[in-house]
Amino acid sequence: MTNTDPIRFAHRHLLDIARLNATDINQILSLAEHYAEIARTPDKKRDLLRGKTQINLFFENSTRTRTSFELAGKRLGADVINMSVGSSSVKKGETLIDTAMTLNAMHPDVLVIRHGDSGAPHLLAQKVDCAVINGGDGSHEHPTQALLDALTIRRRKGRLEGLIVAICGDIQHSRVARSNIALLNIMGARVRIVGPTTLIPSNAAKMGVEVYNKMSEGLKDADIVMMLRLQTERMQGSFVPSIREYFHFFGLDKEKLSVAKPDALIMHPGPMNRGVEIDSEIADDLNISAISEQVEMGVAVRMACLDLLSRGTAA
Ligand code: NCD
Repeated sequence: MTNTDPIRFAHRHLLDIARLNATDINQILSLAEHYAEIARTPDKKRDLLRGKTQINLFFENSTRTRTSFELAGKRLGADVINMSVGSSSVKKGETLIDTAMTLNAMHPDVLVIRHGDSGAPHLLAQKVDCAVINGGDGSHEHPTQALLDALTIRRRKGRLEGLIVAICGDIQHSRVARSNIALLNIMGARVRIVGPTTLIPSNAAKMGVEVYNKMSEGLKDADIVMMLRLQTERMQGSFVPSIREYFHFFGLDKEKLSVAKPDALIMHPGPMNRGVEIDSEIADDLNISAISEQVEMGVAVRMACLDLLSRGTAA
């Protein structure tokens, strides 16, 4: 797919997966395949977004997501500015809306926002004139992560439909899990969530997933095993007895993995806590782990999203 193909992407913003349909998702993934190819060549730069301004507004710490969005914008020729809370007036007490209005007055074309509060990108989108991309909001959604995970799976397995995907660990606090569950359901995969009851959301039954509390059952015959970070920064109080016990019951090691399909693929959005949710022996085994491919696909997917949103076909 190239930039001259007839594409109808009728979205002004990318706020969550719920607003996308299978056609939208397939379009993003196919365009991202094209950008993934370009990224493996010496000349990675295009000028599709030349003259456009992208502001990355990160209210939460981030390494890979911010870098990935920055690279994606730069490879498409945009001027990219990174604003992190530590260096902004937010520290001086400015509200999100005031920050948004200030930035809006500078006429950006895209705002990428990461924020600790669920719904912050949606609020921002109502206040600014440009496209808004959700780079992760609280424990709500992280749509580009789900898209890059889907692209990684599709490249390795050739499809999403019918695959058994086990998402394991701290589902309760994970925006990655919520976006993945939404996307995988739209694309016809079978989604399982696996974790201790304290880390399974109370509305799990309504999420279109099968719930398991034992790795030996949840991982059985799984095609994809997606591990999540134990997100202690979002926990108020104690959700697991101890890290050692958590690893014993829910940390992915060779033994727990042995019940999955022999060609099961291991994924993790990063950052990883080695020895907490995943054993290094598994994380670093390139035959089974797709973790670095996820990072690679992150740039490609974000290029595709920036490209599609900049076409301005939204009603
Ligand atoms: C995830 C996030 O920030 O939600 N990481 C990421 O975007 N690469 C997952 C996490 O923080 O555990």
